[in-house]
Amino acid sequence: PTVWCLVPAAGRGTRVGGDCPKQYLPLAGRPLIEHTLERLATHPRIAGLLVILDATDTRWPGTTMLNGKPVLTTIGGMERSDSVLAGVDALPDVVGVADFVLVHDAARPCVRLADIGKLIELAGATDGGLLGAPLRDTLKCADSAGRSESTEPRDRRWRAFTPQMFRRAQLSAALREAARRGVNVSDEAMAMELAGFAPLLVEGAEDNIKVTTATDFALAEFLLARTAT
Ligand code: CTP
Ligand code: MG
Repeated sequence: PTVWCLVPAAGRGTRVGGDCPKQYLPLAGRPLIEHTLERLATHPRIAGLLVILDATDTRWPGTTMLNGKPVLTTIGGMERSDSVLAGVDALPDVVGVADFVLVHDAARPCVRLADIGKLIELAGATDGGLLGAPLRDTLKCADSAGRSESTEPRDRRWRAFTPQMFRRAQLSAALREAARRGVNVSDEAMAMELAGFAPLLVEGAEDNIKVTTATDFALAEFLLARTAT
């Protein structure tokens, strides 16, 4: 079976600090988001893309088809979770309530196609899951003066990436419930955890960085070239 993919792209990219949102800044000569969308549309298991844009976005090129797959858009919200919920609500009727839906940050252009496939296969046999990687560095807890107060255990700690994949109705209910409780969930998996699920952690390549700062663009250009498959 194939799945639809939501692509949150309604952020403002404040940490990059460019003159436009980071998804439209050039990466290897093209807007960052084009790399992400093209990679997703290339995956044989992805049936269509729903890109979530800011209401004031003037840069979206109006793409309606990519690699023979439909590309739809909708308007996002204040927080990433608001944007994803708006996206779930705007999915076309071909996506049933029990169907899996992928969510992938526009800001992660270097995701490997093989890792998307691995997530769909492994998490699709459960209630859903996400790409991530076990923590490599020692994790410190800082006090207000920026001094290391304690060392957090590293075992069992993972970094969470996207894509994340959950069933449409369960994801919708989980995001709605988190919003109702006033919990600001930083990813879909967190909303699902609050709803009582235990999302499967699927190990993916560390190349799948979220372009967050200006210096990430150089790194992403390097990674793009070597993550083409
Ligand atoms: N995003 C979104 N809607 C929001 C906030 C973020 O769709 N209200 C998207 C971003 O466009 C990005 C992804 O979620 O593709 C991950 O968010 P992040 O890396 O934090 O991007 P920004 O919020 O744009 O950056 P910053 O936090 O530095 O402002
Ligand atoms: Mg943000």
